[in-house]
Amino acid sequence: MQVRSAVIPAAGMGTRFLPATKAVPKELMPIGDTPAIQIIIDEALGAGIDHIVAVSSRSKPAIEHYFEHDQALIDALKEKGKDDVAERLASIGRDWRVTITYQDNPRGLGHAVGCAREAVGDEPFAVLLPDELMGDSSLLAQMNGVCASTGGSVVGVKQVPKDQVSSYGVLAPSSPIDDDGVIPVSDLVEKPPVDEAPSDYILIGRYVLTPDVFDEIENLTPGSGGELQLTDALRKQASRSPFSGVLSRTDRYDTGNPVGFLEAAIAFALKHPEMSGPLREHLATL
Ligand code: G1P
Repeated sequence: MQVRSAVIPAAGMGTRFLPATKAVPKELMPIGDTPAIQIIIDEALGAGIDHIVAVSSRSKPAIEHYFEHDQALIDALKEKGKDDVAERLASIGRDWRVTITYQDNPRGLGHAVGCAREAVGDEPFAVLLPDELMGDSSLLAQMNGVCASTGGSVVGVKQVPKDQVSSYGVLAPSSPIDDDGVIPVSDLVEKPPVDEAPSDYILIGRYVLTPDVFDEIENLTPGSGGELQLTDALRKQASRSPFSGVLSRTDRYDTGNPVGFLEAAIAFALKHPEMSGPLREHLATL
């Protein structure tokens, strides 16, 4: 079955980016000329998804504003001959559908995903954490395929040095990784101490989940950090259904902190047809 919906949890307060996030949600901060959330949306669209479910907070109305159709602005840009940017604005919500749901009480990632239940319905769906940017849609597309062939949930993973695992969800493989980078999973643990981590495969914020996960989310009790953890709902799924990890082979940027955000902005700008030349020249002078 085709995965149609992508859930993007975007209700966080962005405390690591204050004072910038006092007025501008982190998801709208620009990577070059593009809001970070649009890069996540483009990744989802590139994997065949056409319904974006943004889990926002009522204290971040700018996110809704970004999705609103603004015909007057589009017309004004066209009149000035700026057809390219007019088309980019016109495509927001035209070529894909957007639903905004709210998580006004920050109780953890599991809770945030649970807030999307009604919007997603009873079918497999993707979750994309906006703190992680991928170089392209290849990982998500492959994960969709693995979900369709196994009938079970799938997580995107990366191998990291063992001393970094305690910042992430970590999976326990039940057999070795295959040639396509697919790993059968028997268990998952959220932010384990290094000496208790079942492997060095970490979750990198990309999920394709079967809808039974919503029942597991409703039964969650507080886990790591006192929060309702998505990883704890996934471990229930892994204990009774096929569950897979897919090793990411694409670039990954952790935009959850200001330095990582700058690294991502520079990497994306260096790939941009108009920005890369001037930026390279400037960087060479430093
Ligand atoms: C979340 C997830 C964690 C995952 C990480 C990826 O943690 O709970 O399993 O590895 O995202 O970025 P957070 O970074 O929100 O603490």
